[in-house]
Amino acid sequence: MSKQILVTGGTGYIGSHTVVELQNEGFNVVIVDDLSNSGIEVLDAIEKITGKRPAFEKFNLTDQDKTNAFFEKYPGIAAIVHFAAFKAVGESVEKPLEYYHNNLVSLMNLLRSMREHKIPDMVFSSSCTVYGQPEKLPVTEDTPRKPAESPYGNTKAVSEDIMRDFARATEGINCIALRYFNPIGAHPSALIGELPVGVPNNLVPFITQTAAGLRDELKIFGDDYNTPDGTAIRDYINVVDLAKAHVVAINRLLNNKQKASYEFFNIGTGEGYSVMQLVKAFIKVTGVNLKYSVVGRRAGDIEKIWADTSYANNELGWKAEKTLEETLKSAWEWEKHVRNIR
Ligand code: UFG
Repeated sequence: MSKQILVTGGTGYIGSHTVVELQNEGFNVVIVDDLSNSGIEVLDAIEKITGKRPAFEKFNLTDQDKTNAFFEKYPGIAAIVHFAAFKAVGESVEKPLEYYHNNLVSLMNLLRSMREHKIPDMVFSSSCTVYGQPEKLPVTEDTPRKPAESPYGNTKAVSEDIMRDFARATEGINCIALRYFNPIGAHPSALIGELPVGVPNNLVPFITQTAAGLRDELKIFGDDYNTPDGTAIRDYINVVDLAKAHVVAINRLLNNKQKASYEFFNIGTGEGYSVMQLVKAFIKVTGVNLKYSVVGRRAGDIEKIWADTSYANNELGWKAEKTLEETLKSAWEWEKHVRNIR
């Protein structure tokens, strides 16, 4: 019998791609999502891609009664992939309490449920934001964490600590945190992808929306950084590659291959690209004439970061495979699908 995996936030951007990869690997998926930042139609798209519709329950995991009732209804869950969280850096500065409450209480409710219902394994979505601006690049898992730049970033650091302490203290509980670098792109079917509500904060959705005519021009935040072309550098990871890392992590836990009750891995490509390089690559692969201009730096941005992925590559046997070009192309194909552009 195929194992059942709970994917919280499974209708969201990274969650939906992970549900697809889990189902492709034969897992049985149940999604919990409150649809605060995604739509129910994502289920249709997942079904179209995989031929299978995941089970779905709509509620917010900070609600302990609903969380308990959920685990009573689904007694066969083997492991959890926990994505459900608020994720807008700027908004978290405006609404810190909402961010701490939503992101931490939901995690603690899930961990308590794992203990009560004897669910041993969880994979958690963390972020390279926990490294801040590292002294040395690329960042390995030995790179020290730095105080977070935002309440959002802090929820990731605190979540890691909660999981570490709980997994250590609780026999039979194991957690893996995946520290994502910058996830971009969409499924090659163009049926699922990133769909931000309102004006996008992130670079690639802003680029594709500008290319689609929804925004006038891309503003590049700063060209006076200490980088070869002066624009900031990130490690952009294809969302399907990232989704596959979750399947690998789930299998590691289910097969008891983990080396400690709490582990964490850098999930990136190992390559850094500047904003300008990314913009030029987008124009080249899509042929779209993207309007852009340089403005001042955005508050809270770091200058450069990219991953050393050797630990994830060797220990998980996982590696990012897609090129930046095909990833940008997939982001554009998705935007065209959403906007009905041919
Ligand atoms: N950028 C622009 N113009 C835009 C948007 C972004 O120039 O309109 C630049 C940013 O200044 C940055 C780069 O593009 O240099 C990437 O910006 P994103 O907003 O796409 O991504 P960030 O690296 O700022 O943020 C991401 C995640 C956060 C996470 C953070 C950790 O979105 O969740 O990485 O570093 F906290």
